[in-house]
Amino acid sequence: MAEKDLSADVALAVRKWQKKRGALIMVLHEIQGRLGYVPREIALELSKQMNVPLARIYEVLTFYNFFELEPPAKYVISGCMGTACYLKGTPGILQEFSRLLGIEVGQTTPDGRFSLTTVRCVGCCGQAPVVLINGEVHSKVSPQDVPHLLAQCKD
Ligand code: FES
Repeated sequence: MAEKDLSADVALAVRKWQKKRGALIMVLHEIQGRLGYVPREIALELSKQMNVPLARIYEVLTFYNFFELEPPAKYVISGCMGTACYLKGTPGILQEFSRLLGIEVGQTTPDGRFSLTTVRCVGCCGQAPVVLINGEVHSKVSPQDVPHLLAQCKD
């Protein structure tokens, strides 16, 4: 969504959903789907166009974990916290990522390159513990593999 088209793009999403139930959530979903997060300027524009207080929009954005308020990192690293992966060592793997990146789970590095998150079982329990990097599954990961995985995230 280019900045100059912001108002028109928001208007389009609003028009598409305004007569439906839960219109605000649907519009926010659409914006997040397109940008990967909901920028503040969009929230402000939505507030004007839908005639909803900005505070209400932020209530929705912060209530649902799904919504992101910051742009996504270039590399999103997710440790699987499903039972099989958890028991086979995801906490230690996350700790190593955390140590090397200098961030906690749920945070993004200041340069915006890496964020560290967790996911529930991704259906590869036989390969536990698994780590996803931008959705790509890495199997049977150990803390010793972490520097190598980070080195693969070039540029
Ligand atoms: S528990 Fe991690 S893939 Fe199933």
